Amino acid sequence: MRHLLSPLDLSVDELDNLLDLASDIEKNPEKYSERCKGKKLATLFYEPSTRTRLSFESAMLSLGGSVLGFSSADSSSAAKGESVSDTIRIVSCYADICAMRHPKEGAPLVAAEKSNIPVINAGDGGHQHPTQTLTDLMTIRSLKGSLSNITIGLCGDLKFGRTVHSLINALVRYENVKFVLISPKELRVPDYIRHDVLEEGNVEYKEVEKLDDVMSELDILYMTRVQRERFFNEEEYIRLKDSYILTKEKMNLARKDMLVLHPLPRVNEISVEVDDDERAAYFKQVQYGVYVRMALILTLLGMEEI
Ligand code: NCD
Repeated sequence: MRHLLSPLDLSVDELDNLLDLASDIEKNPEKYSERCKGKKLATLFYEPSTRTRLSFESAMLSLGGSVLGFSSADSSSAAKGESVSDTIRIVSCYADICAMRHPKEGAPLVAAEKSNIPVINAGDGGHQHPTQTLTDLMTIRSLKGSLSNITIGLCGDLKFGRTVHSLINALVRYENVKFVLISPKELRVPDYIRHDVLEEGNVEYKEVEKLDDVMSELDILYMTRVQRERFFNEEEYIRLKDSYILTKEKMNLARKDMLVLHPLPRVNEISVEVDDDERAAYFKQVQYGVYVRMALILTLLGMEEI
């Protein structure tokens, strides 16, 4: 039984195969349109989501399978006090694979220990978001041609942003990837990422507060939302929420081929005028998200032949 709880659950080779499969799905969607006929995906979402949940559902439907699930803790038995371990045992009888989003770090891991079906972590608290990372990797590989030899700027809420944590974990495995971590002091990456991943791995990185100063060095700029729901105090959120706003003027400082990525939802951190810039790749990223989730479902169900 395979699960996807962290991006590191896939080796670099497995990840390459998965991205190859996702690219083949992009080119020949009809080849895969019946592959999951008779299979069911359960989406267990204890926390709000639009993209991730619909993207999983769209992925399974595009494979000819069906979907069931809930989209908030209030509409599930969690509201009656049922544990995640019990819920997953029940769901194992109803579905062939499941995607779980939970506000508590580690909840999908607890579920995986009791599950008879593959569990995909669709975001656990401020911890990890491996399927967003697969999406980000496919976007970079498709539009830049490679995951090696890049300088990536990660900007915004690097403390609570789980997409950032997962993406750093995944990208340090490629050659010559340099990280520029752009955030206010209060929202720097957690120590377990800085020490255990970047320093222990001898990875080249720097931490800065001003986006303008580093803009011209970047091949990729990964913008993130300040994660309001994870703040302990609303005043602190209000003070930090508009720390970075990417505008047309700022884009003028960037390379002609720099890509702008964002896991979405966007609040104020990218002004809408940037959407028309050729370098804005965040809506393309959403489409790649469906292809990689299709590839992931097939891989975890052991149906990944191209
Ligand atoms: C991200 C998340 O849920 O962590 N959204 C997503 O899944 N695309 C980013 C965010 O909420 O800011």
